[in-house]
Amino acid sequence: MIHKLTGTRTILRISGVLAVVAIMATLSGCGLFQKMLTSMNIHPELAERGEKFPGSYKCGHCHIDIYKEWEGSTHSKSYTSDKFRIATNNYEYGFCIRCHAPKTIFTLLEKETVDNIDVPVTQAKNSEIAARDYNLKDGVDCQGCHLTVDCEFSGPHEGISPHPLKKDEEFYKSSELCGTCHVDTFEEYLTYVGNGNDETCQDCHMPAVRRKLIQDEPWQKLHKKKEGKKHTFSRLSAIEKNKDFVRLKFTEINNNNDQIAGNVEIINTKVNHSIPTGKYGYREVLLLINLKDNLGKIIKSKQESMFVELNTQIKPGEKKIYSFVFDLDDKSGELKELEAVLFRSNFNRTDKTLFAKVELQLGL
Ligand code: HEC
Ligand code: HEC
Ligand code: HEC
Ligand code: HEC
Ligand code: HEC
Repeated sequence: MIHKLTGTRTILRISGVLAVVAIMATLSGCGLFQKMLTSMNIHPELAERGEKFPGSYKCGHCHIDIYKEWEGSTHSKSYTSDKFRIATNNYEYGFCIRCHAPKTIFTLLEKETVDNIDVPVTQAKNSEIAARDYNLKDGVDCQGCHLTVDCEFSGPHEGISPHPLKKDEEFYKSSELCGTCHVDTFEEYLTYVGNGNDETCQDCHMPAVRRKLIQDEPWQKLHKKKEGKKHTFSRLSAIEKNKDFVRLKFTEINNNNDQIAGNVEIINTKVNHSIPTGKYGYREVLLLINLKDNLGKIIKSKQESMFVELNTQIKPGEKKIYSFVFDLDDKSGELKELEAVLFRSNFNRTDKTLFAKVELQLGL
């Protein structure tokens, strides 16, 4: 990218600087070498606040893989999505914008009106984030999680980059980062960690990957692969990683010729927040208990819904028991099957993400 943007002059400048830096480096060690390279500031506009920031697509010129992942995530659509637009009555409620199109999670709300430059040094807590008024369509953008108050990009690694960079491993690997916006989910999480499972939000929602941080030619050749995370921010990768995160079991089955009764047990074995979780939007998890005939056709069915709002969610480590009774019309006692299915759904039932499923043959 660098060559395209600034041409041969930059390359000459780089070679010049490299020569000087090489001498300095042999004299004074690696730290200074890095400092000089990063302070070349070939792309100062990238770490610019406000309207001068060209937008996340610019980060995608070099961080190609990460950009694509982010683009496919709901974070990139958190402002433009129909659901958000409608829920805010066409963006009328300013209060909502701060998490859906934040300046950065390091910028506190209070100081926003005082001065754009004079911002406090501590990161924002509990959603007190200043909202953007530019590049809104990018939603939760790259700067949103990476731009510090000192106009540097922070992340978990050290690196040599054309923009200012600062290592902050602890924060980027902690759930606290996600908790600045996912306030309720983070609260659930805090009540649970220490109880055996101390995986972070990133561990489950950003799959681990070893790769280079940039992919643009020829510059990527200068860089080594690093341990990083995919920017998918999705429930699907978390489900994939924790295959039996929720366990379903039939218990106390009582099968006579008139009736089949019993319980379905649901245990949240691994997820250290509630299932479902979240404060906004429509989040329903459904349990279907089906009685099937010997051809696999559903004869009878029972349905239970779980919502955070109704306090029927499955908390971390919790076991829930749902009883069912099916009165039988066909009393022939032929082979039948019970089936329990747990899935996440949306308001018009177009989404049916499978969480778990169990079957039980009913012999006589
Ligand atoms: C700046 C605020 C902010 C931060 C920080 C943030 N998120 Fe989000 N996140 C959102 C918003 C807003 C949405 C809703 C997007 C939508 O559906 O329109 C969301 C959605 C999600 C979803 C998808 C939920 C769904 O319904 O599909 C997951 C998973 C998620 N975030 C995980 C994370 C993780 C993991 C982190 C930390 C690495 C994180 N988020 C950090 C604001 C944030
Ligand atoms: C011209 C290419 C280029 C562009 C454009 C670019 N970066 Fe980078 N970035 C780099 C290079 C090179 C590194 C260091 C890679 C290495 O050392 O492995 C880097 C490193 C980073 C890191 C380091 C994370 C860590 O591991 O600590 C972050 C965060 C980052 N960039 C964010 C951004 C953001 C946000 C944007 C857009 C505003 C952006 N970058 C645009 C080239 C670029
Ligand atoms: C041990 C793995 C694990 C950890 C740790 C974890 N999650 Fe999850 N998360 C999941 C699984 C599995 C799901 C899918 C089940 C569900 O929707 O509840 C999920 C669902 C979600 C959803 C809902 C997505 C949707 O589509 O409704 C959000 C939002 C979310 N997680 C955010 C977070 C945040 C924020 C943290 C850290 C505070 C976190 N998660 C920690 C495994 C995890
Ligand atoms: C919701 C918050 C969030 C958003 C939005 C986000 N990142 Fe990150 N980013 C993280 C976290 C957390 C890590 C640390 C992952 C880890 O532990 O390696 C990270 C790591 C990185 C790294 C270092 C490589 C790695 O995987 O550790 C780069 C480079 C980076 N991000 C660039 C970007 C770019 C470019 C965008 C926009 C396309 C972006 N990020 C959007 C949270 C975010
Ligand atoms: C504290 C940060 C924060 C604030 C403030 C906020 N949201 Fe959100 N919003 C989120 C997060 C995080 C999600 C992802 C799921 C969840 O946790 O509910 C989300 C998800 C949503 C969704 C679901 C999108 C989908 O695709 O399912 C809608 C709709 C929504 N928010 C509307 C609003 C409205 C309206 C307001 C203002 C009243 C608002 N939000 C204020 C953080 C926030």
